[in-house]
Amino acid sequence: MRVAMIGTGYVGLVSGACFADFGHTVTCIDKDAGKIERLKDGVIPIFEPGLDKLVADNAREGRLHFDVDAAEAVRGADAVFIAVGTPSRRGDGHADLSYVYAAAEEIAALMDGFTVVVTKSTVPVGTGDEIEAIIRKKRPDADFAVVSNPEFLREGAAIEDFKRPDRVVVGADDERAREVMRELYRPLNLNETPIVFTSRRTSELIKYASNAFLAMKITFINEMADLCEAVGADVQQVAKGIGLDNRIGSKFLHAGPGYGGSCFPKDTLALVRTADDAGAPVRLIETTVKVNDARKKAMAGRVADALDGDLRGKTVGVLGLTFKPNTDDMRDAPSLDIIPALQAMGAKIQAFDPEGHEARQLFRDVDFKTGPYEAAESADVLVLITEWDQFRALDLDRVKMLMKQPIVVDLRNVYKPDDMRARGFKYSGVGRG
Ligand SMILES: NC(=O)c1ccc[n+]([C@@H]2O[C@H](COP(=O)([O-])OP(=O)(O)OC[C@H]3O[C@@H](n4cnc5c(N)ncnc54)[C@H](O)[C@@H]3O)[C@@H](O)[C@H]2O)c1
Repeated sequence: MRVAMIGTGYVGLVSGACFADFGHTVTCIDKDAGKIERLKDGVIPIFEPGLDKLVADNAREGRLHFDVDAAEAVRGADAVFIAVGTPSRRGDGHADLSYVYAAAEEIAALMDGFTVVVTKSTVPVGTGDEIEAIIRKKRPDADFAVVSNPEFLREGAAIEDFKRPDRVVVGADDERAREVMRELYRPLNLNETPIVFTSRRTSELIKYASNAFLAMKITFINEMADLCEAVGADVQQVAKGIGLDNRIGSKFLHAGPGYGGSCFPKDTLALVRTADDAGAPVRLIETTVKVNDARKKAMAGRVADALDGDLRGKTVGVLGLTFKPNTDDMRDAPSLDIIPALQAMGAKIQAFDPEGHEARQLFRDVDFKTGPYEAAESADVLVLITEWDQFRALDLDRVKMLMKQPIVVDLRNVYKPDDMRARGFKYSGVGRG
């Protein structure tokens, strides 16, 4: 099949490269000319494990192409994917659909022959109807179908998730379109991946419901963590104890500083707005949003507590800035709340992140170090915000020797409290009262 992918970001590039690896012919399109130039030169604009090789292999085999101009790819495509951003709209929290609609306008002008327009971007219920109307208005003659095919990949494990997903969701009301989607995902039959065919509106909602549920699950365990601290219980044992129940499941039960990232914050908010507009408020998610926002803001207070409430003139070493390990993505990362709050309390920040190039642009007043030990050197307190693997087995004696005082605030519960105390650290984790 011939595929055009409009938008070559985290989702578009991974999806395009994986479809090419399945054997389809794919052109990834982006209006960011610099990005396309770099990709043509074999430079991957984001950090995602395994993506450089996947892109290089498929480009070499002639199945994966890059272009700023959508014309040629869209004209010849069986399926045109929209994988552009849908950030929160300033002011009201609704999803900003301007990029999606602009892409629909462009596609309308170019498509030729029966074309399936597939929305991979996360979009509110009814967006597919609007895309269809935009295209129909511009091209009353066109033969096309608009399909919803939300993406569930996780950054950091995106290729594995795309190639071995728990399920694929396709919202299509047209049988020819369903046939194209079946053909595109046929390589997944080998692993017997369930493909959920449903209506377009239901498919659009499945994506939001899925993210909202996961965000709620994280928020639930975070509140349990606070309760554990208050009553002298251990949230990790609570998570294990409840997670072994198949009805609950063990995933997304790690207490921490609050969820961040490119999806959960904006998608929970957008779902709340959609539900309000529909007159069917989702109060659990409204509360999840509020509790999570407050939690991210409260984390700096934990660091201050570790230094008896006074951060003035203190040096805080920070490990990990990205919203989670194995990505360079900084969108809504907890560090964006925590670090300015620490600075406002008078602390000086020195930090290390293995993929911190984006973070450097955002934190101009942070002293970036070359490794975790350098970030610990002469620090009054060391704060672990993002649990990159390389922070899991630090030489703690070396850390202790380097620090001004051996105080660690571990917001990801990577280390064991008893171990840390035995080694002479003043240590605090999350929810281990
Ligand atoms: N990042 C994730 O982990 C993830 C996972 C699942 C779903 N999603 C959803 O996928 C969508 C894309 O997310 P992302 O993280 O890949 O975004 P991104 O910001 O990384 O990439 C979007 C790209 O689209 C390009 N673009 C915008 N308008 C364009 C146009 N008219 N023509 C060509 N290119 C255009 C931008 O230049 C940018 O490179 C969002 O709706 C998001 O919610 C993201």
